[in-house]
Amino acid sequence: MSKPQHLTPVGSIEAMQNDLPHDEAIGKKAYKRELQSLQIELLKAQRSIKADGQRVVILFEGRDAAGKGGSIKRFRQHMNPRGSDHVALPKPNDDERTQWYFQRYVQHLPSAGDITMFDRSWYNRAGVEKVMGFCTPQEHALFLRQVPAFEQSLVSSGILLFKMWFTVSQGRQKRRFEARRDDPLKQWKISPIDEASVAQYDAYTHARNEMLLATDTLVAPWTIVNSNEKRRARLGAIRSVLHALDYDHKDRDVVAEPDPRVVRTAHSLFI
Ligand code: ADP
Ligand code: AMP
Ligand code: MLT
Repeated sequence: MSKPQHLTPVGSIEAMQNDLPHDEAIGKKAYKRELQSLQIELLKAQRSIKADGQRVVILFEGRDAAGKGGSIKRFRQHMNPRGSDHVALPKPNDDERTQWYFQRYVQHLPSAGDITMFDRSWYNRAGVEKVMGFCTPQEHALFLRQVPAFEQSLVSSGILLFKMWFTVSQGRQKRRFEARRDDPLKQWKISPIDEASVAQYDAYTHARNEMLLATDTLVAPWTIVNSNEKRRARLGAIRSVLHALDYDHKDRDVVAEPDPRVVRTAHSLFI
């Protein structure tokens, strides 16, 4: 089910990752207006999801400072907090380390009517754990082999699964860390792992490419979000989820096809 190994996403994801989506940033007013329209659609979608007893999982993945947390915040800003969960698990404790790797994530999967947003997810094993040496090479390899079947079983049980990868350039990542250091409201976001993530930028790139090749499947494809401009990234991420959902009173003008400079299927970036 995974892509043949001779395909490589390197070239075009790199190009997307290193560029702003547009020469000019979206203005604050236009951003707010668009965000509000999309948030109204999210509420309609949530109502249908509750009424129909659907279960939705959205994974927010990407490098440190890619804007995962900020996007989740905009998704959930006006949603009914009952039924829109934000799961950001700490590093595994001693008990969890002895369990099946997926176990602690499985506990947070949604019940009927719920949308669960994972701020980082089981993909930690393919990224931070691999790069920082928190798992063995064998555990990493086993993980990549197990993911397609694991996700297939979620999807065939009826879960709607979205996997979003936020990309950010090395320079912009560095600047965001610097901004966090200077902002007393953002300092909690800084960790020793972040220092390493700038230094290990290329190792993370390699790990990401390996991960995409192994886990971009037909039933559980990846969506790549260019997050070099945070506002457009948030709008694009919300729009891409809404675009794929069926719900009552959907406004198809608001939820048009996402901007391809911001949102692409991983598949379209394989060369
Ligand atoms: P975040 O970027 O999510 O705010 P960090 O940059 O501190 O947090 O850590 C990145 C991820 O690495 C987190 O999901 C964290 O749980 C995980 N992590 C940190 N230390 C370990 C460890 N020793 N073993 C496994 N995972 C870890
Ligand atoms: P951010 O990390 O999104 O806060 O952006 C980091 C810096 O890049 C800020 O100074 C932004 O103003 C700037 N920036 C973000 N998007 C754009 C853009 N599309 N064009 C020019 N500058 C931008
Ligand atoms: C992000 O900005 O991507 C996340 O909110 C957190 C982080 O990477 O530190």
